[in-house]
Amino acid sequence: MSHNHIICDNVCFSYEKGSEVLHNISFSCGHDDAVGLIGANGVGKSTLMRILVGLEMGFTGEVTVGEIKVTKKTLPRIREKIGYVFQDSDNQLFMPTVYDDIAFAPRNYGLPPDQVDERVQHALDLVGIDYLRNKHTYKMSGGEKKMASIATILAMTPDVILMDEPSIALDPKNRRRLINILNELDHIKIIASHDLDMILETCSRVILMSGGRIIKDAPTREVLTDRELLEANGLELPFCLQGDPGEPRPFGHKH
Ligand SMILES: Nc1ncnc2c1ncn2[C@@H]1O[C@H](COP(=O)(O)OP(=O)(O)OP(=O)(O)O)[C@@H](O)[C@H]1O
Ligand SMILES: [Mg+2]
Repeated sequence: MSHNHIICDNVCFSYEKGSEVLHNISFSCGHDDAVGLIGANGVGKSTLMRILVGLEMGFTGEVTVGEIKVTKKTLPRIREKIGYVFQDSDNQLFMPTVYDDIAFAPRNYGLPPDQVDERVQHALDLVGIDYLRNKHTYKMSGGEKKMASIATILAMTPDVILMDEPSIALDPKNRRRLINILNELDHIKIIASHDLDMILETCSRVILMSGGRIIKDAPTREVLTDRELLEANGLELPFCLQGDPGEPRPFGHKH
C-alpha cells in the first residue's frame, strides 16, 4: 500500500500579524492525484504551496506529507519527498551551471558520480535542454530557467511534485513538452497556474481559491466549464472552451 498523500487540516497563516492570508484550508490528496490550484492574483496559491514544502512555518493547523507531519524537525525529510518548482526560477537555481543544479539532489543523496551523471542526463533529455548543460544559470532566458528548474526536480525522483506556474515563460513547444512530462508522471501533483488550458489537460481535479479560502474542490471539468463560478472569482473559462472569439478588435481603437 502506498503511503503517499498530502493532508492539509484547517491551516491558517499570516505573514503579518492581524492579516490572515490563508483561512481554514483543508483538503487531502492521495496516490497519483493531479490537482490544479487556481485563483486570481494574491489569493494565496503560492503561500499554500510554500507551506506544504515547509518554507513558511508559522501556520496553525496540520500538514502531513506522506506519513510525515510538517514541523521544523522533519523539514529535511519533507524536502526530500517533495519536488518543488518555484514561481520565480531565480529562487530555484543556485549552482553555477545547469548541470550542477540538476546534479545537486542526486549528489546529496550520496549517489556515485556515474549514477549522478545518468540521472542528470535523463532529466536534461526529458526536458530537452541538453544544449544548456554547461550554461551559467544567471545567463539564461526566463523560459530556459523554467525548463532547467523543472529538470532539477525530475532528477530528484520525489514522491510528490508541486509546481507553481510551471508554464509561465514557456514557448508553445516547451509548454507542450511540459504537459507531456506532467501527464507521464504518476506522482501526486499539485500545479498552481493561471494557464487553465494546461490545467484542463493535466489535472483530474481542481481546487479554486479566493481570498485565502477554498471555494470549490471538484473534478476539473466541473470547475473549468463553470463560467459563472470562474468569473465570480476573477477568472475566465479556459481559451479552448471560450468558443469563437469573433472578430479581433484592432489595437488602440476603442470604437
Ligand atoms: N512575503 C510576504 N509578506 C507579506 N505578504 C505577502 C508575502 N508574500 C505574499 N504576501 C501576500 O499574501 C497574499 C497571497 O500571496 P500569494 O503569493 O500566495 O498569492 P498567489 O495566489 O500565489 O498569487 P499570484 O497568482 O499572483 O501568484 C497576497 O495578498 C500577498 O500580497
Ligand atoms: Mg503565486
